[in-house]
Amino acid sequence: MSDLETKIISPVPGSYNLANYQETKASFTWEDTAQELSFHKTGKLNAAYETVDRHVDEGYGDKIALHYVNDDEHRTLTFKEVKDKTDHYARILLNNGVTKGDRVFIFLPKTPECYISILAVIKIGAIAGPLFEAFMEDAVKDRINDCQGTVLITDNELVKRVPKKDIPSLETILFTEEIEATPYDSSRQEDLVEWVDEDDGLIIHYTSGSTGKPKGVLHAHRAVTHHYQSGKWVLDIKEEDVYWCTSHPGWVTGSVYGLFAPWLNRATIVIQGGRFSAEKWYQLIEDLKVTTWYSAPTAFRMLMSQGDLYKSYDLSSIRHVLSVGEPLNPEVINWAWNKLGFRIHDTWWMTETGGHLIVNLPTEPIKPGSMGRPFPGIEVGILDAEGNELPHGSVGQLAIRAPWPGLMKEIWGNKDKFDSYFQYEGWYISGDLAVQDQEGYVFFQGRDDDMINSAGERIGPFEVESKLIEHPAVVEAAVVGKPDPIRGELVKAFITLGNNYPETKELLEEIRIFVRKNLSAHAAPREIEVVKELPKTKISGKILRRKLKQAEIEKSEKLHV
Ligand code: WTA
Repeated sequence: MSDLETKIISPVPGSYNLANYQETKASFTWEDTAQELSFHKTGKLNAAYETVDRHVDEGYGDKIALHYVNDDEHRTLTFKEVKDKTDHYARILLNNGVTKGDRVFIFLPKTPECYISILAVIKIGAIAGPLFEAFMEDAVKDRINDCQGTVLITDNELVKRVPKKDIPSLETILFTEEIEATPYDSSRQEDLVEWVDEDDGLIIHYTSGSTGKPKGVLHAHRAVTHHYQSGKWVLDIKEEDVYWCTSHPGWVTGSVYGLFAPWLNRATIVIQGGRFSAEKWYQLIEDLKVTTWYSAPTAFRMLMSQGDLYKSYDLSSIRHVLSVGEPLNPEVINWAWNKLGFRIHDTWWMTETGGHLIVNLPTEPIKPGSMGRPFPGIEVGILDAEGNELPHGSVGQLAIRAPWPGLMKEIWGNKDKFDSYFQYEGWYISGDLAVQDQEGYVFFQGRDDDMINSAGERIGPFEVESKLIEHPAVVEAAVVGKPDPIRGELVKAFITLGNNYPETKELLEEIRIFVRKNLSAHAAPREIEVVKELPKTKISGKILRRKLKQAEIEKSEKLHV
């Protein structure tokens, strides 16, 4: 690791919310955190109240809560306006019989209404199930069915991808167009907040592993403490910040660090609609004078591939930049530092962990290639196969001392799966492999299972394989992550074809579109290779994805020497 240490990037002097990492880490406990939050004073808890309504009650109603930008459209809403709209949505949910603990799904593009719907569900004590806007029928169906969602908030466009007949629990579909058209008297000032217990369900995010269908990771209201504190220290949010998180709230980064954490810290957030475009993204930073920007390595790599484009924009408003979701290459950090003039602060966490666990703080040196050090209150362990802690410098399973406030409450309906994260007494096992140096910096080494990470999105091979073999031509399928310079990994499928199906370009394209149309674009294989047979274990006949993946890694290494 000594060669990495020579490239350390020192902090940029400034005033930061967490001034002294070492001292804070030594004395910090979760109990004394977030004294600013209302529920510490009143004993009454509701995450939606803390996130928005509290600011109105504390006199910040006129502050701009959000900018929404989509091509030529630009809207702003104040905290008071967000609160009123949330009340309006909450009232309609109540009128439709939604009660505490019900699962209400939200299937909307990245618009203010998506954020407001999530908060409205939470406000009345129900559990919000946000869905990524690119999901297709099967992805939508599987998730709502898994936890028996009863209500769905969507719009006239996305409803076309909701197979209502196949979702028996779904009683009501609400359309944002109709909700917006329904009059609401904001002077009514009803008290719609359902006060809850710390352990009551808040939000459910479906996420993929190496086996089975996506799992419903349920978080509890107590997570606001983690969201607030990491927003304050890691995102380093100040009230005057214009904060932009590029993730959709259907993913955990988009909800925790796109909605909860910045608003708990009273930032003005940016919601950008539409797809990635280097020009539009740079333009948005210039136009809105974005100060704090949270994105993913794939996006940074795409910007980097545009060469000098950044020179045409004024990015001087930026003071803090963060990354998450996949390994952040040292090359990208160095590009941002040398060309754009800012450090990119990597952060590591997972859907299941509910908040940041390993972070680069603005006051600390960055070692490119490292995800950073444990957040105060978090203890990292690198474990061997028996669950014993390994010394610094050894590669092992990345584990975290459990619990902490953001940690998931359960995997919906699957206790065995939940327990599998805690097989060693006192530890949460992440499924990642890592190594920690003497100074506590953690370096990601890969996954310990077959999960695929493409453009920062988790893709379970099983889900894609299951969809592939539904196509009449496909007999067997194995899906792996193939190394890719921009996306980190891309989804590659190996398939065997039935006798009556000769391999043609058209057939492979048809199979690809079949997955794309039914599951989702992000999970559809970008490459399909037809093989005579798939490698399998001798005894149980299980498909050896690892062998296929290793061959892909070796091929890509050859290309790069
Ligand atoms: C990977 C996203 C390297 C990791 C918040 C983890 C990372 C999985 C990083 C969780 C990082 C996340 N460097 N790999 N900074 N952050 N990962 O649930 O494999 O979508 O287990 O949560 O992404 O992905 P998830």
